[in-house]
Amino acid sequence: MTRRDADVTSLVETTGNVVTPLASEGDQNADVTLRPSTLADFVGQRELVRHLEIVLGSARVRGQSSDHLLFAGPPGLGKTSLANIVAHEMGSGLRVTSGPVLARPGDLVSLLTDLQEGEVLFIDEIHRLSRTVEEVLYPAMEDRRLDVMIGRGPSARSIRLDLPTFTLVGATTRTGLVAAPLRDRFGFVGQLDLYDTEELRLIVARSARLLGVALVDDAAGVIARRSRGTPRIANRLLRRVRDVASFGAHERVDEKLAADALELFGVDEYGLDKVDRRILRLLCDQFAQLPVGLTTLSHACGEEPVTVEDAYEPYLLREGFLIRTPRGRIATERAFTHLGIPRPGGGMV
Ligand SMILES: Nc1ncnc2c1ncn2[C@@H]1O[C@H](COP(=O)(O)OP(=O)(O)OP(=O)(O)O)[C@@H](O)[C@H]1O
Ligand SMILES: [Mg+2]
Repeated sequence: MTRRDADVTSLVETTGNVVTPLASEGDQNADVTLRPSTLADFVGQRELVRHLEIVLGSARVRGQSSDHLLFAGPPGLGKTSLANIVAHEMGSGLRVTSGPVLARPGDLVSLLTDLQEGEVLFIDEIHRLSRTVEEVLYPAMEDRRLDVMIGRGPSARSIRLDLPTFTLVGATTRTGLVAAPLRDRFGFVGQLDLYDTEELRLIVARSARLLGVALVDDAAGVIARRSRGTPRIANRLLRRVRDVASFGAHERVDEKLAADALELFGVDEYGLDKVDRRILRLLCDQFAQLPVGLTTLSHACGEEPVTVEDAYEPYLLREGFLIRTPRGRIATERAFTHLGIPRPGGGMV
């Protein structure tokens, strides 16, 4: 670990990120250095960024805190980065926590009563808050007040605490799992979508500059095309390419070197890794093209259902390698062709 990484590590708040393909601890540290810190640095998600510029800009003009914001979308698309950006753009402090960490209502109460005027409170994985903790949040979000019960039995009474103005930023990989009353209390819900190749190319080029990697020809494009629409993966692949380049004492990375390096790490030309291919092979081969439920599929490929659903499926679906039917997942013609497995009976899916 370099000195810079070590310094950065001490700044990293552990927010219990969902496991994503090719994750490793060193990579997570490096994530922080590559994190965009202003809206201008944040590539893509144009509509969302435009809306945020308006919401944050108008709050600044009024000299008030911004409305509460919820960011939703698959892992690695920039939700935590946006929480940092909101605090930075508003010139406010940022407190970071996550749904699973706030186990009891008291945990949230002490966090809220400790907030400074105007601060941003970021709750990652907000869909994992328990019902009782959520109930503390409702009046805090709506009226900046807490109702705290003191004592027990007949002598118990409720006291009201006023809170400073604050902005709650929530992040979730599942909007569907955020309880409706909680979702309704956010003034703005931003849905993040997978990035296109051009946006990823810009992200790779920016990260390469920050990491001091010399990419030539369209090496950034090669990495972008294999990044499954996800900036975190783009940065991760870039670092693997950098490793191969520095290991082989190459000063520059051209298209061929980038492609060879990614092949070496098991990432194919569509960005599918070993687990993706295992999922598709199971659907094409082992389950004989029958629809397969998420739990069965996850057990068969040795991953958690949440990992398969959040980290693998969105890209496989978007690229048309599998489809979801009410009865389960099915591999498409494209999956058979890509894996070179003949389809029994021919025919298109
Ligand atoms: N729009 C973007 N422009 C540039 N870099 C980005 C962008 N979005 C994400 N990144 C990069 O990808 C990394 C991962 O993003 P981030 O941690 O914000 O994702 P996330 O949505 O919070 O993921 P998770 O759901 O796993 O918590 C960031 O550290 C940053 O380097
Ligand atoms: Mg995050």
